[in-house]
Amino acid sequence: MDLIIKNGLLVTPSETYKADIAVSDGKIVDIGYDLGTDASEVVDADSKYVLPGAIDAHTHLAMPFGGTISSDDYFAGTRAAACGGTTTVFDFALQDFDEPMLDVIKRRDAIAAPQAAVDYAFHIGVKDIHGELLDSMKDAVDYGVPSFKVFMVYDFGVSDGVFYQVLQKSKEIGAMISVHAENNEMVNYNVKKFLSEGKTSPWYHYLSRPEFVEAEADMRAIQWAKATGAKLYIVHLANKEGVAAVTKAKEEGYPIYAETCPQYLNFTSDVYKREDGRNFVCSPPIKGQESQDALWASLKRGDIDVVATDHCPFMQSEKDWGIDDFSKIPNGCAGVENMYPYMLAKANKGEITFNKAVEVCSANPAKIFGCGQKGSLAVGKDADIVIYDPVKDFTVTCDAMHSNYDQTIWEGTEFHGYPEMTFSRGNLVYKDGKFLGKAGNGKFVKRKLD
Ligand code: URP
Ligand code: ZN
Ligand code: ZN
Repeated sequence: MDLIIKNGLLVTPSETYKADIAVSDGKIVDIGYDLGTDASEVVDADSKYVLPGAIDAHTHLAMPFGGTISSDDYFAGTRAAACGGTTTVFDFALQDFDEPMLDVIKRRDAIAAPQAAVDYAFHIGVKDIHGELLDSMKDAVDYGVPSFKVFMVYDFGVSDGVFYQVLQKSKEIGAMISVHAENNEMVNYNVKKFLSEGKTSPWYHYLSRPEFVEAEADMRAIQWAKATGAKLYIVHLANKEGVAAVTKAKEEGYPIYAETCPQYLNFTSDVYKREDGRNFVCSPPIKGQESQDALWASLKRGDIDVVATDHCPFMQSEKDWGIDDFSKIPNGCAGVENMYPYMLAKANKGEITFNKAVEVCSANPAKIFGCGQKGSLAVGKDADIVIYDPVKDFTVTCDAMHSNYDQTIWEGTEFHGYPEMTFSRGNLVYKDGKFLGKAGNGKFVKRKLD
């Protein structure tokens, strides 16, 4: 045996129980009481929780965006992931115009494979479906990338017609479509208007994308998914009306899924009034208290399926481009190292259960995105395991993080309880604040949807 973790409190979405876990060749091979100590490594997890590694279903590593490139490359991003108990990241590979979908995957994998320190998968960000490109979605599915994202905003956002065709195609080939839902025309109108009135602070980033601008787009996207019978996953859902629309669609029996992010659960739009408000600029923007309350209620009910980060960090000097003009701030915030500690600290406080944290951060993303070997502590699964110390106190600072950034919206956040060790397929990649993994050890995860 390679590893036995003893005496821990194991957490699954439905159970919490004391047991040992045995690992061999990167897989969980046994779970039971008193499995002995006949292993190369024995870890005593008495008084600790033993959890499946988190799956961050939404990262942007080394992504060209907002006039620069997000500051975490595949090494830094996966190193940070490991140190926050995340053992798989799903990164967005943005298509170039004219580029067949399989080429997108291969182009990004050539960068990711030598760098990744934990396992990774891709979603393809679709920009262009002209000619044979639409049909090339099937090649990506056959290769193990059955999920695509369309953006309704940004200069590379797709038209309604393209979105519609992508939904239709996804139904035919067994794929999942994710959507960044905001109304582009309204955003552009508001941005232009505010700037012409000299309203340039980050608060106007929030006001240029008010609640209904996201809600309206959520509803349209849901309507089209219903009409085409496609599976739809709304990324970074942040507004209360969108939450209600998701709940209704689920009640009606449609395969509509929703993700929110820790920044929407923890902060409100008030952050845009802060002196460092530009550091919180992301899209959709962080909304008001009522929306935050709706997100938590829906997560507890089970209508929000997944918590993922939308990790897209930028350096302070880049965020500063927008000191006098909010529209010049690269959109995105860090989170890959903070998500699991944040959700687990909520569990540790009793605001949610540990089972719920495991469900939304690990089991559900594995299930929804066809990642059968991950997302749970069960015999035969990859040994992606986190040992969590419920009494350790931790304060987030940039210096203590393992990313390539010099500012984070999580600076100063205090957690009661923190991951102590992370294993990626049985290999110890993090212990007590130190990264112990290696670039290139992360493997590409091929997926197939149910
Ligand atoms: O502001 C954000 N969310 N940046 C990353 C790109 C995206 O929209 O997901
Ligand atoms: Zn987005
Ligand atoms: Zn994103």
